Amino acid sequence: MGKIIAVHSYKGGTGKTLLSVNLAATFAKQGKKVCLFDLDFRAPSLFAILKLENAECWFNDYLNNTCDINKVLIDASNKIPSKGKLFVGLANPATEAIRDMSAKDRKWEMRALGRLLYLRNALLNDKSFDYLVFDTSPGLQYSSINAIVAADLVAVATTGDRSDVDGTRRMLRELYNLFEKKTGIVINKVLDYNSKNRQEELYDRIKNTYQVPLLGIVPCFCDILRAEGNFIFAQDKPEHPFSKLLDEMAKKIDANEVR
Ligand SMILES: Nc1ncnc2c1ncn2[C@@H]1O[C@H](COP(=O)(O)OP(=O)(O)OP(=O)(O)O)[C@@H](O)[C@H]1O
Ligand SMILES: [Mg+2]
Repeated sequence: MGKIIAVHSYKGGTGKTLLSVNLAATFAKQGKKVCLFDLDFRAPSLFAILKLENAECWFNDYLNNTCDINKVLIDASNKIPSKGKLFVGLANPATEAIRDMSAKDRKWEMRALGRLLYLRNALLNDKSFDYLVFDTSPGLQYSSINAIVAADLVAVATTGDRSDVDGTRRMLRELYNLFEKKTGIVINKVLDYNSKNRQEELYDRIKNTYQVPLLGIVPCFCDILRAEGNFIFAQDKPEHPFSKLLDEMAKKIDANEVR
């Protein structure tokens, strides 16, 4: 039975998109059948990052109930030469589409949740996908709440920023726990993560601060900034420490170690 993973955060810019893309690519590399979805309708980015041709429909259209899911999925496996398969469902980056999505009412969002939940049948059960990875908008946007509700595991990205830490703790107490979601935390953009003392100090601090399983600690890599989003590390630089960390994260998730 496959799993749905939502990558979420309290604040913007914590690395959700970077982590979603690389986690999906890592699963594919490990031989899994994966679909990565852009659920950040406020600022769609997978379209630009993966440089894919348009499918017949956008993921927006699927949620709008005007298109079948099979017309949304793009097979990007040739971008990620691997044993597995990587499909992508893109959010429409057109200004009009962004405005349209931000004006949806509660009733629409409830129906959209139904469509999202249906993916479990349509993709995990009927098409034997191993993982669906949802890249979401930060904070408490309706589309992100829907993604969290539909997910089996929420990977929460956070940095060391004071406001980020406070907001993340609040969300853990008041949002993920409310839905009784399995949650794993990823501390991203960590500085000076090279001495043993610093690593031990950080582990203890994270354990006390969040009290949920730790999925990974990711240093701030200048190489990532330098790449300017032009390639997928997990694929193009498999020996890079960032890719190694993703390998470990994917294995943890696969082994069901996040409870
Ligand atoms: N560990 C890291 N080291 C260096 N740069 C990073 C790291 N993680 C993310 N970045 C950079 O930070 C920026 C924001 O990352 P990303 O777009 O993935 O965040 P996001 O959470 O998806 O943002 P948004 O909330 O706007 O969707 C990008 O330029 C990305 O390359
Ligand atoms: Mg993003």
